[in-house]
Amino acid sequence: MFISFEGIEGCGKTTQVELLAKYLSHRGLHYLVTREPGGTHLGKLIRQMLLDPAHTEMEPLTELFLYAADRAQHIAQVIRPALESQQWLICDRFADATTVYQGYGRNQDLAFIQQLNEMATQGIWPRLSLLLDCPVEVGLDRARQRIVQTSLEGREDRFEQQDLAFHQKVREGYLKIAAQNPNRFIILDATLDQQQLHQEIVALLEPYLEDME
Ligand SMILES: Nc1ncnc2c1ncn2[C@@H]1O[C@H](COP(=O)(O)OP(=O)(O)OP(=O)(O)O)[C@@H](O)[C@H]1O
Ligand SMILES: [Mg+2]
Repeated sequence: MFISFEGIEGCGKTTQVELLAKYLSHRGLHYLVTREPGGTHLGKLIRQMLLDPAHTEMEPLTELFLYAADRAQHIAQVIRPALESQQWLICDRFADATTVYQGYGRNQDLAFIQQLNEMATQGIWPRLSLLLDCPVEVGLDRARQRIVQTSLEGREDRFEQQDLAFHQKVREGYLKIAAQNPNRFIILDATLDQQQLHQEIVALLEPYLEDME
């Protein structure tokens, strides 16, 4: 079972990934949590390149290829082996994020991104992609709160620094691809309280959980 979590900055992906991991652990299921970018050793180096706000000179195409490189390594080293060993695999962002951020956000060619994603993923896609949807102001406020609370290097990353219009395009992009892939995507209301949202996620995963036991 391969599940990805998607959504704008600060919508609550990592929070829900952690809550779900705890839940799977309670049920005695084998699972692996991973993320993009940065799910491998090489990926962590690529992630630093991608997120560091000092890298103002980065071209949109460079950014796109770095995401694809991170993904190719991640699929080969982490995702494919995990799926072959029958584990639950939870991924904090996956290839849809590239369609949305580099495609809808940065106006890179969508057909090309689709091809690149197919190459990088080797055709491996999540069974379910959970889109945590909320207004961009809500997500960005939460992301900023998190910076304050955790003194997370005290600064925003290269994407958090983008203006509201960029994040709005990202949100709309996510809603568009969710509508185009109704068998894979589930849209959830990320303005809900963390525990409420977690309960919704557990409820919708219940049939898959029963299958695995
Ligand atoms: N449902 C919620 N209601 C209120 N606050 C929340 C909720 N979910 C998460 N938060 C808080 O909002 C902040 C951002 O959450 P989180 O880090 O999970 O978001 P994210 O989607 O992983 O962000 P990013 O895209 O930057 O990785 C955190 O401080 C978290 O505690
Ligand atoms: Mg996160």
